[in-house]
Amino acid sequence: MSYTPASNRYESMKYNRCGNSGLLLPAISLGLWHNFGSVDVFENGRSIVRRAFDRGITHFDLANNYGPSPGSAEENFGKMLKKDFSRNLRDEMIISTKAGYYMWPGPYGEWGSRKYLISSLNQSLSRMQLDYVDIFYSHRPDPNTPMEETMMALDTVVRQGKALYAGISNYSADESKKAIEILKSLGTPCLIHQPKYSMFERWVEGGLLDVLGKSGVGCIPFSPLAQGLLTDRYLKGIPENSRAAKSHGYLKVGEITEERLEKIRKLNDMAKKRNQSLAQMALSWLLKDKRITTVLIGASSVGQLDNNIDAINNLEYSKEELAAIEAILK
Ligand SMILES: NC(=O)c1ccc[n+]([C@@H]2O[C@H](COP(=O)([O-])OP(=O)(O)OC[C@H]3O[C@@H](n4cnc5c(N)ncnc54)[C@H](OP(=O)(O)O)[C@@H]3O)[C@@H](O)[C@H]2O)c1
Repeated sequence: MSYTPASNRYESMKYNRCGNSGLLLPAISLGLWHNFGSVDVFENGRSIVRRAFDRGITHFDLANNYGPSPGSAEENFGKMLKKDFSRNLRDEMIISTKAGYYMWPGPYGEWGSRKYLISSLNQSLSRMQLDYVDIFYSHRPDPNTPMEETMMALDTVVRQGKALYAGISNYSADESKKAIEILKSLGTPCLIHQPKYSMFERWVEGGLLDVLGKSGVGCIPFSPLAQGLLTDRYLKGIPENSRAAKSHGYLKVGEITEERLEKIRKLNDMAKKRNQSLAQMALSWLLKDKRITTVLIGASSVGQLDNNIDAINNLEYSKEELAAIEAILK
């Protein structure tokens, strides 16, 4: 089935400036960590990507190791690009990838050396059949590689035109400050930081967001729904097709405790009062902070994707609502 993107795709999405850069990103971005690998149904992933684009999502996030099997999400995404997004549509998309976690055996297959980062990006480009990605990330800081070396590798690929922008992920506030300074001195500014951030995971509030805000670096929180916990997914047990039920899923059944569920139920009631789904409330709660450029969601169906995108219809919070959420989360 050939694909023609919806002609009204830019009419309702919100686009936010990424830090001090020239780049606008959609308030909701789509990640391909789960649901797009060789273990998944290709046509399901394809329909999610098409629908995302139809609704104004221009930003698609990958990494070398996404699958399983590692690399297969990039391969599948490359096939989707070939089938559905040929020629000028590539210019309407922001595609990111990363390197940092284990990808191949031997001393050059993970962490932050120049050797690994540049080899990995070359492999990612070949899996996705692309000439360049828009954003290339150091996926995690490497305590055993000088940060200058890792940042120089990012600077190199940007100068080579293999990536248009450089980003960092999972760096602490202090590490980020250092990385941002090094990149600045090299002449390739740090575009964006990708940390884990949700109502259930708030470490970024202890310094990182201030560093990013002051430095004019964008922020794209990953797992903003805590992998599905901050939705109605687990309110009535653990569905068979859910991430928690899958052996390769990163969400473990043990994380769905009664204490958690109690909070989730209360948050769900509160979302209802706001005429939102819990997923929508979890996303808009992050987007209320102007330092957050976009939230990086996952979805296993078009229905979930649509539900999440509709979060942008209600981004306002009263003081009372914020206090009530804090009371539930504490
Ligand atoms: N930089 C890093 O180290 C790092 C690490 C992790 C992720 N990421 C990035 O962040 C992206 C998002 O991560 P994530 O998938 O964990 O995000 P998430 O949005 O927190 O969780 C997505 C999962 O939640 C469930 N879900 C989503 N919308 C729903 C809805 N409206 N109603 C009910 N359930 C819903 C689905 O689970 P089911 O499958 O159960 O349906 C979906 O797969 C990844 O794809 C990746 O690009 C980056």
